[in-house]
Amino acid sequence: MPETTTTVPVIAIDGPSASGKGTISERVAETLGFHYLDSGALYRLVALAAMQAGLGLDEEAALAGLASGLDVRFGGGDIILNNKNVTDDIRSEICGMGASRVAVLPGVRQALLSRQQAFRQAPGLVAEGRDMGTVVFPDATLKLFLTASAEVRAERRYKQLKEKGIDANIRTLLQELRERDQRDSARSFAPLQKAVDARELDSSGLGIDEIVRQVLDWYRQKVAGSQV
Ligand code: DC
Repeated sequence: MPETTTTVPVIAIDGPSASGKGTISERVAETLGFHYLDSGALYRLVALAAMQAGLGLDEEAALAGLASGLDVRFGGGDIILNNKNVTDDIRSEICGMGASRVAVLPGVRQALLSRQQAFRQAPGLVAEGRDMGTVVFPDATLKLFLTASAEVRAERRYKQLKEKGIDANIRTLLQELRERDQRDSARSFAPLQKAVDARELDSSGLGIDEIVRQVLDWYRQKVAGSQV
């Protein structure tokens, strides 16, 4: 019999933009052989599809319809929207900002809920975003809230963009990050916040390997604890 989805373990990793959630989640998923959900990509896809369709980013009913009918495929690290590879397109700052705007709308969040929960497949899932531990997977085995100072995050984003040959201004990036943090945290529906039962980790002075090791330790402790 297939395993019921609610018995499949989930590691929920939430935190603000550029806190390192993506890299950490991918590495943890790879180590454990788990599936990986980048929930921010779904909000970015809605923003991109809306802009392509000429919709305003506040047209809730139309955007919710778009979100529930999104023709998207994930595979081999690529994201295909309407048969077009948009893996790089959705990483732009415009899509990031657009995603943060459409994410304020309850209709859009509701439309994406079951799509996110469908990623919960055996042997397990690492899910990253803003409301993984609070709303989408409230019964996650381990919840982590990953933070870093806005300055450290802006610096990381600046380096990433430079490496891709994209010109960037660190002060503008810092200002955009703060704006995004403010909107993501202040919205009334599923805001960015630490779940009461989440472990908090400030990644500012830590290397990726150290954080991954810490998450794996915490996960294994949880699993061992639930088996005694
Ligand atoms: O993680 P990211 O930068 O790709 O996310 C882009 C935006 O999407 C982010 O500013 C807020 C929104 N988002 C959200 O509201 N809930 C999530 N679970 C993931 C992302």
